[in-house]
Amino acid sequence: MVAHNLNIRSAAAAGSAPGRRSLWKKRKLRMKPRKMRDGVHWLGAVDWNRRLFDSLIPLPDGTSYNAYLVEGSEKTALIDAVDPLLLDMLQRQLAHVKRLDYVIVQHVEQDHAGGIPWVLEKYPDAKLLCSPMAKDLVVTHLHVSEERIQTVADGETLSLGNKTLTFVHTPWVHWPETMSTYLAEDRVLFSCDFLGSHIASSALYSGTDPRVLEAAKRYYAEIMMPFRTMVRRNLKKIRELDFDLIAPSHGTIHDHPELILNAYEDWASDRVSNSVVIPYISMHGSTELMVNHLVAALAERDVRAHKFELTTTDTGKLAMALVDAATIVIGSPTVYVGAHPLVYSATYLANTLKPKAKYAAIMAPTAGARKSSSKLPA
Ligand SMILES: [Fe+2]
Ligand SMILES: [Fe+2]
Repeated sequence: MVAHNLNIRSAAAAGSAPGRRSLWKKRKLRMKPRKMRDGVHWLGAVDWNRRLFDSLIPLPDGTSYNAYLVEGSEKTALIDAVDPLLLDMLQRQLAHVKRLDYVIVQHVEQDHAGGIPWVLEKYPDAKLLCSPMAKDLVVTHLHVSEERIQTVADGETLSLGNKTLTFVHTPWVHWPETMSTYLAEDRVLFSCDFLGSHIASSALYSGTDPRVLEAAKRYYAEIMMPFRTMVRRNLKKIRELDFDLIAPSHGTIHDHPELILNAYEDWASDRVSNSVVIPYISMHGSTELMVNHLVAALAERDVRAHKFELTTTDTGKLAMALVDAATIVIGSPTVYVGAHPLVYSATYLANTLKPKAKYAAIMAPTAGARKSSSKLPA
């Protein structure tokens, strides 16, 4: 059976007429709230069709925008919302929730907070809780009036009756205002983007599925790697909490938290692998000859090479290879008076991602390179 889920983007791309649009709507895969614990539910939207994030990183496995509903004996809180493009999914899930006392915004970026204005309109008595750093962003990005916002300090607790939420500031994973929320009674850590993964799945939990770690590495490489030092600091901080579940805002819920924590600790550490990332462009084959020679020479020495021909490279895979490579070697022909534009682009990205590579080099063929390289092994 093929599950069809067509979101606004794909329906628009298909140039759908009004009649067809309602058909697309009916065919949308709608997830109901899913119980994690008594009074704790996953809400949100699984975006099976999204193929690009930040208009930069390919999403071969889609993604999800997770929100969580925590109902205590006295008060109810919603943690985060969804991307406005799939807001109708959250609207349906909240249709039967009559009262909301708190809306917790852990991160103001659009894919989680974009749906917040609608939530505040539906629940006019709800207070918006966020970190002090987030307050200005909430006002300027979401146009929420200041009277509805209550900031929460690092370590501050909020009682919902029989459930207690503790706010844990986790700055720079990956915006300065980001925080996590810890639910002590149920041993759940809601971590927002931190420890998340771009993967669309009908499974609620990650289990030991290796695809989740692959998707999490892609996500880490693009979003978290530039803030590696802060990642380490925040990992230490959350390690002090006792939890069985890590519930991020993208991807499946980690029910084997050690797997994702260990992976993050490794990625964010100073350890490098003896591997070489080789992004390159070859216009007439000369650079490719040099690259192939280098790859063969490295292989003879048992050094792993990751070769990325930049006109066809998945940027996410390049970013993932940069997570622990010790060396980067860039290959480019000369175009006009400099490197090939795609090499500039890849180099700019690599600089931005701040990988922990120890060595870098540039290869550029000079006049006669093809002649001399013909003597090299293929
Ligand atoms: Fe984000
Ligand atoms: Fe996000």
